[in-house]
Amino acid sequence: MYRTHTCGELRISNAGQSVTLAGWVQRVRKMGGMTFIDLRDRYGITQLVADENESKEVKAQVEKLGREYVIQASGVVTERQSKNPKIETGDIEIRLSDIRILNASAVPPFTIEDESDGGEDLRARYRYLDLRRGPLKKALLHRHKMAWEVRNYLSSIGFLEIETPYLIKSTPEGARDFVVPSRMNPGQFYALPQSPQTFKQLLMVAGYDKYFQIVRCFRDEDLRADRQPEFTQIDCEMSFVERDDVLDTFEGLIKSLFKNVLGKEFGEPFPRMSYADAMEYYGSDKPDIRFGMKINDVTAKVQGKNFSVFDSAEYAGAICVPGCAGYTRKQIDELTEWVKRPQVGAKGLIWIRNAKEGIKSSIDKFFTPEELSALAQGMGALPGDLILIMAGGKKKTRTALGALRLEMGNRLGLRKNDVFAPLWVCDFPLLEWDDETGRFYAMHHPFTAPKPEDMDKFFSDKKEDLEQVNANAYDFVLNGTEVGGGSIRIHDAKVQERMFQVLGLTREDADYKFGFIINAFKFGAPPHGGIAFGFDRFCALFDGQETIRDYIAFPKNNNGRDVMLDAPSYIEKEQMDELFIKSTAPAASTAPAASAEEGKN
Ligand code: AMO
Repeated sequence: MYRTHTCGELRISNAGQSVTLAGWVQRVRKMGGMTFIDLRDRYGITQLVADENESKEVKAQVEKLGREYVIQASGVVTERQSKNPKIETGDIEIRLSDIRILNASAVPPFTIEDESDGGEDLRARYRYLDLRRGPLKKALLHRHKMAWEVRNYLSSIGFLEIETPYLIKSTPEGARDFVVPSRMNPGQFYALPQSPQTFKQLLMVAGYDKYFQIVRCFRDEDLRADRQPEFTQIDCEMSFVERDDVLDTFEGLIKSLFKNVLGKEFGEPFPRMSYADAMEYYGSDKPDIRFGMKINDVTAKVQGKNFSVFDSAEYAGAICVPGCAGYTRKQIDELTEWVKRPQVGAKGLIWIRNAKEGIKSSIDKFFTPEELSALAQGMGALPGDLILIMAGGKKKTRTALGALRLEMGNRLGLRKNDVFAPLWVCDFPLLEWDDETGRFYAMHHPFTAPKPEDMDKFFSDKKEDLEQVNANAYDFVLNGTEVGGGSIRIHDAKVQERMFQVLGLTREDADYKFGFIINAFKFGAPPHGGIAFGFDRFCALFDGQETIRDYIAFPKNNNGRDVMLDAPSYIEKEQMDELFIKSTAPAASTAPAASAEEGKN
């Protein structure tokens, strides 16, 4: 037997017991004639002690130890003289009677402690060492707990977990597909699923009326802190449901996660907001409602005062920043530069200081103090508040104000990561027009149903009518991040065909790409709808973080590379030939000779 206990298990109540532990040497400290060894495993750290009275064998072994050596150690559990309240085993130590080195370790490239000295790249290259560190261990444990709860809860209300294939047909509509060449079908490719969307709908046609799956999805898109090329969804679908059935069901799931993972109770229903309101008041389709500072439409109030910036603008909007009237000129200039950055894209910033000693603004030439006060009061500004105004095109200006609102929320510490503000955003437009390609795109995906009351417009040939069609779609937003998205689906073959037509697909194209689902709808498709949550995002946000990488055991970097494996990589010419593939990449595009690659796997 390698061990009688784990390194996180022993307490004062075990004092006097003879035990054997196995694990990794985190640290060796010598003090006088004593040697202290921190022994670590997945469960914790236990201190081992060797003193001058140890046997020669033990002494000899202890002398050899280095960081990350794997050892087996036996001894008696003893109360510590100086206790360590920071660790759960901090009341005891093991007086060594035997120690055996199971495997030596090279000197690790960085210190494997909660606070590591290793940079991000280095730690990514040695991910298996990074995963030994406390924070990552905690993150993976948290992920496991979340997955466990999801499976428990959904199973308890009758959902079945059903797996769907990873090698599917390429039907790029949203992001780009990752594709896989087929050796047995020369020149043809599978795609890795961006989501199991069509399969879950086919499962509804098949009669499995409550489906879920914790499933890997693949999207070849630009990466960010909350985006990975392969990520995990909690994918769900239900039959014989309307929108509120879906929202209520999954609100139950989210509340159970809050309760059982975080110990937080949400008595009240989650708020619901229309897409139109989200854009109007928050300048975003994923509002962070942990704080107010809503956007006010002040267009009518500021026009007609001979200030061309306002008079020539389609829209003027303002936010009222609490307690910031004391901002210095320098601070405001810096903020102005901030909004002018390409990521925000505003032309400038107009300010009104609603100071206790009087109102002051960058537009004093055009507005009387009374007019400025009326404007401030109209927005509910209190003495001491700062009003920030932007003007321009409606869509762009609202988005820029939304970004400024978040920035001010950050600066004022209003976005606390242990406060949770869940929100449903509903009634998205069905379609988005793209000027560049001159066609409509589905805002969610092409299987989303138009709202029943908009069906006439959906069959109209006028662009203006189509632009006004709302979708029976919804997003789940948590603290300003889109965590989930779903919709009631089209289940009528004719409506689905119309959708493909609106999206500019010819009948042949639609048949080639989506014939299987149009066909399935002819065989008794039930009304159905569902949702998918970004599981990695859920895990990170529940843990108060925005970066999902730490919640994935082996993630990719921002260039989509696995730096530990050094993937993607070139493949050998024979492999390319077998797949009937020729690369047009400019650089050398096949692997070095086979021998040099041997042993890499
Ligand atoms: P959608 O495309 O909105 O919907 O995706 C659902 C959720 O998946 C998460 N997500 C991601 N997480 C990490 N990295 C990514 N690259 C990434 N892309 C998306 C987000 C998002 O809200 N089939 C539909 C769902 C449905 O209609 O039922 C779908 O995939 O949290």
